[in-house]
Amino acid sequence: MLSYRHAFHAGNHADVLKHMVIIQLMRYLGQKDTAYMVIDTHAGAGVYALDGDYASKNAEYDTGIAKLWDRKDLPPALKEYVDLVRSLNPSGKMRYYPGSPYCAEKVMREQDRLRLFELHPTEVKVLEENFRKLEAHAAAQGQRPAARGKRVMVHRGDGFQGLKALLPPPSRRALVLIDPPYEDKRDYTHVAQVLADALTRFPTGMYAVWYPALQRNESRQLPERLKRLGAKSWLNVSLAIHGPAPDGFGLHNSGMFILNPPWTLEPMLRELMPYLVDVLGVDDSAEFVLESGET
Ligand SMILES: C[S@@+](CC[C@H](N)C(=O)[O-])C[C@H]1O[C@@H](n2cnc3c(N)ncnc32)[C@H](O)[C@@H]1O
Repeated sequence: MLSYRHAFHAGNHADVLKHMVIIQLMRYLGQKDTAYMVIDTHAGAGVYALDGDYASKNAEYDTGIAKLWDRKDLPPALKEYVDLVRSLNPSGKMRYYPGSPYCAEKVMREQDRLRLFELHPTEVKVLEENFRKLEAHAAAQGQRPAARGKRVMVHRGDGFQGLKALLPPPSRRALVLIDPPYEDKRDYTHVAQVLADALTRFPTGMYAVWYPALQRNESRQLPERLKRLGAKSWLNVSLAIHGPAPDGFGLHNSGMFILNPPWTLEPMLRELMPYLVDVLGVDDSAEFVLESGET
């Protein structure tokens, strides 16, 4: 099913949580010189115009990045995330929002590698075009040689399938982001199956799964299934900005489930999540959950 377009949701509260966490996971990997790989199995378009038809339709960014844009009291990890979004908007007006591929490209170093999968024929073209522009811009600024070899590669195709061939990565250091649309409920099962397989190929990899925390059974069960995969350790964080709507529609709650998280993540989130609840929450039902475990 390929009706999902992330542009409708760009910059919403779920993107804030997801992108802030990804940046911190990459920062941790970047503490060692050895190269790491980021594999984004569901990349989307890479960059979104917030004044475009899709993003402005429901203005979902009003539930997320817009509430953080002018804050002067951001905790460090959120400041780093907002600064990254600001770097895409040098005029100071919030016009563009970075997807996970752009966030990753900004944080990775010359020696690191980014592998992007996208199945939607239109999205993947936009993604390729966005990276062509980024490369041209970096080359024009003298930041990077125009021919950068295989630093970033866009794969047209199924990320669930494509992941297998990339594991384990040569440097044995990687972050895998799995962020499917979940419009097709089989995505929930695919995520658990693909991770079980990935852990056999590369048990020490860091895996980050975004998921919608909805009322439907598949959604409620996903974190429980992931806890039982047998990874050495796991962390689950979710953010609800209000209670569920009476008709069950809309995304009010979402989470990031991380297998083999860095030890630094939990204390950082413990400090930061109350701030996010405070600033993004719209009623008394706003809350976060933060839990972790070891196998
Ligand atoms: C939630 S969006 C990704 C957003 C992106 N990760 C970000 O944070 O900016 C999910 C994307 O996955 C794509 N997609 C759906 N099924 C896929 C599959 N099996 N393999 C690769 N991409 C897929 C959709 O076209 C959509 O662009």
